[in-house]
Amino acid sequence: MAANMKLSFSSLLWLALQTASVCQAQKYAFAHVVVGNTAAHTQATWANDISLAQACGIDAFALNMGYPDSNIPTQVANAFAAAEANDGGSFKLFFAFDYLGGGEVWPATGSNSVVSYLTEYKSSTAYFNYNSLPFVSTFEGTGNIADWAPGGAIRSQGDVYFVPDWSSLGTGGIAPYLDNIQGFFNWGMWPNGASNMTDAGDVAWQQAIGTGKTYMMGVSPWFFHSASGGTDWVWRGDDLWADRWAETLVVAPEFVQIVTWNDFGEAHYIGPIYSDSEIAAGSAVYVDNMPHESWRDFIPYYIAMFKGSSFDISRDQMQYWYHPAPTAGGSTCGVVGNNADQGQTELSPDLVVEDGVFFSALLSSAAQVHVQIGTNAVTVYNGSEGINHWSQPFNGQTGVPTFSVVRDGITVNSGTGLEITSTTTLSNGCTNYNAWVGSF
Ligand SMILES: *[C@@H]1O[C@H](CO)[C@@H](O)[C@H](O)[C@H]1NC(C)=O
Ligand SMILES: *[C@@H]1O[C@H](CO)[C@@H](O)[C@H](O)[C@H]1NC(C)=O
Repeated sequence: MAANMKLSFSSLLWLALQTASVCQAQKYAFAHVVVGNTAAHTQATWANDISLAQACGIDAFALNMGYPDSNIPTQVANAFAAAEANDGGSFKLFFAFDYLGGGEVWPATGSNSVVSYLTEYKSSTAYFNYNSLPFVSTFEGTGNIADWAPGGAIRSQGDVYFVPDWSSLGTGGIAPYLDNIQGFFNWGMWPNGASNMTDAGDVAWQQAIGTGKTYMMGVSPWFFHSASGGTDWVWRGDDLWADRWAETLVVAPEFVQIVTWNDFGEAHYIGPIYSDSEIAAGSAVYVDNMPHESWRDFIPYYIAMFKGSSFDISRDQMQYWYHPAPTAGGSTCGVVGNNADQGQTELSPDLVVEDGVFFSALLSSAAQVHVQIGTNAVTVYNGSEGINHWSQPFNGQTGVPTFSVVRDGITVNSGTGLEITSTTTLSNGCTNYNAWVGSF
């Protein structure tokens, strides 16, 4: 009897644990890869991207694919070959059909279509499934919503777990299409005007889609776009990388999508810069020598927090970023702050962007952070265990900045950044609104 009691108690415990793990849906973190910017990639380049992304806890790449784009078939094949060869497909890929990027919309069926890509790749060991269905997203495509109806042109060929970005509908416009989606991806992840990003847009979209749908939240560090002969915009980056990850803890989405891995022209890349040939025409001038890879350093921590996992801060780390000269030290060269085409008020880019250094410290225990620009006075910040974030205005200071963690009067670790100059160093005299990013 006693033995039976014990057995049934442990059975109950087992059942309770199972139920808890079923109820707590697993969360996932993705990074947005613009396949159109991978023309020089080989399978080995993809393997490198995958290993770097997996090393910082990213679960999958969202493969953004414009239409038509002659690079797509080759590069999608390279990406899947690399992912399948990587540890039995433990890092995943899924399609994000871009209905604007290539200038035309995706055909639902036929050769080189949504259905043809899904048919070819959805059974891959590396294709990302959710709720046992192939996961699919989009960039826009609001003229083709009917293609995604239950039992419609695409789903009659095999069901999918569909999480589109149809942000242009606005939160008031999604209601008629809720049967077509399982979740929603909101592209709104940069602040409007000279202000910080808030989670108001995320909360509004979560309410608009209601319970029973999943939400994919965008996290991006920066946005500056300039191209030869094109329209040029900047949105406020500044504290965004730290602020936005903090907001994931409040919004608590099922999915986070980091935007982007490799959109160099829009200056929100966090992956390696391999070749000028993969950078949009006219953009290399502000991308070259401006690495962003150090933004990845805190991603393992941020993803662990987003997923509710524990994280062992085994060493003191910092990351720091800034545009390398005050905005007044160069010309705007046609860049505007924000974009009137998106219903925003355009303003001077120099009002949107703050002149200063932005820095975060992940500390194993309380310590001071010292910041010194050139040979100017050191500014001291009191940090506590865990994540800390601050900024410091240039205030006319120039020189190589030094960032240090100091504990009990001893410098534990420190690093230097790109020299801050009083005038732009771009040969065309334009302000470089892109960020230089470093870390230790
Ligand atoms: C913007 O965010 C930064 C970092 O979180 C904070 O220090 C600053 O006070 C904020 N600015 C405003 C106007 O709220
Ligand atoms: C940092 O802590 C020290 C010692 O507790 C204190 O004297 C100092 O005012 C603090 N600095 C700031 C900026 O809070």
